[in-house]
Amino acid sequence: MPILKPDIRLEQRSSQTNINHKSSSMNILLLGSGGREHAFVWKLKQSPLCDALYVAPGNAGTATMATNVALNINDAAAVAAFVKENSIDMVISGPEEPLVRGLADQLKADPALQKLHFFGPGAEGAQLEGSKDFSKRFMARHNIPTAAYQTFSRDTLAEGIAYLEQHALPIVLKADGLAAGKGVVICQSREEAVQVFREMIEDLKFGEASAQVVVEAFLEGIELSMFVITNGKEYLLLPEAKDYKRIGEGDTGPNTGGMGAISPVSFADAVFMEKVDQRIIQPTIAGLAAEGIAYTGFIFFGLIKVGDEPFVIEYNARMGDPETEVVLPRLKSDLLSHLLAACEGRLGAEETIFDPRYACTVMLVSAGYPEAYEKGKVMTGLPEVRDSLCFHAGTKAEGGEVLTNGGRVLALTSYGATKAEALQKSFSAAETVQFEGKNYRRDIGFDLD
Ligand code: AMP
Ligand code: GLY
Repeated sequence: MPILKPDIRLEQRSSQTNINHKSSSMNILLLGSGGREHAFVWKLKQSPLCDALYVAPGNAGTATMATNVALNINDAAAVAAFVKENSIDMVISGPEEPLVRGLADQLKADPALQKLHFFGPGAEGAQLEGSKDFSKRFMARHNIPTAAYQTFSRDTLAEGIAYLEQHALPIVLKADGLAAGKGVVICQSREEAVQVFREMIEDLKFGEASAQVVVEAFLEGIELSMFVITNGKEYLLLPEAKDYKRIGEGDTGPNTGGMGAISPVSFADAVFMEKVDQRIIQPTIAGLAAEGIAYTGFIFFGLIKVGDEPFVIEYNARMGDPETEVVLPRLKSDLLSHLLAACEGRLGAEETIFDPRYACTVMLVSAGYPEAYEKGKVMTGLPEVRDSLCFHAGTKAEGGEVLTNGGRVLALTSYGATKAEALQKSFSAAETVQFEGKNYRRDIGFDLD
């Protein structure tokens, strides 16, 4: 099934600018299965540096452009065996879990894999995402602006409750560890905060991840996502994006993995971006270097603009989803060349080129998501989508058909000279694709100029 109509495909190919052709082409293993990974595949395949491309486990979309492999990405021995058998030159991790579990360290410790490039930090660097307490202490050490906080555990439960009882409202409670995007609770009363705090620590509401809890001041503002490619000393900025996390229009209802995204972000003007660079990005990279934390990978800065000032809400050790579905379409230069340069410690010579157009993505989701939902619904209309890129998120191919296979099903990305033009194309594509129970937000970008 064609993912792109030839006109769009050609346009994307010809706009790709490759700066560095010094190395010969590489066999690549990409880990993950979402819309982010399909967008990676789409971008990596445009690079002359890309030879064979494998995706573990991938989805119906990645299968049309690369080779899906059934591999448990959290099983380091299985990944190492695959890398050896298939002469893989570079592994790229889409999601955080393999990084936080130390996959990069485990592969690098294998004497037979000394030449392998792994794009993604080791367990120590991945703590920026894997432990909220680690990231807050890191920011404090390097004077990086973030909300005031204290961390508590079972041993300090009583102090924690006393802290909550005098805390300004609302109160933000965060499970220290990875909680599949669910570990943050914003409490409107102190009673609620104490109850949730106890559930997190005493009843392990989010498993071991909430054995430690970060209690944080609430910041009022508008959020945006920034991304860098770094080798722990130098970095390349990628286009910024804004994502829409809530299920309901007007940012209402429960949090999801992300219902849409847009880039560029109108309020991220040059003055603001300069503050982000000076106060947040530079001190973060310098802090990693000063602490001797080796870090080759993406850093995702979850930011909030309070008044005119940027603060860090969180770090992630990977790209965002669905932000990647607009960030990579706006990157005209060769992503793989940038990743290789980072792995080889020569990022300073790389230059990024951005597409000046807007890119937006609208996520089609299953009925019921983010609560219980059904899978296995037949999808139709995909070949009729003409002006958008269809990045598969939760899909699988079966008996010649494409079936839904997740809560988030399909990210429809479009370009436009204006935000309105890009959005109109994605909303039109969202009507063209059909499956039982399809839901999407019709107001992506509503809060931006
Ligand atoms: P996280 O899981 O850290 O991305 O947090 C989920 C969401 O909670 C963020 O995207 C914000 O919308 C919100 N959030 C987290 N921390 C704060 C804070 N200190 N102030 C206001 N909102 C927050
Ligand atoms: N879109 C937010 C995330 O990937 O965590």
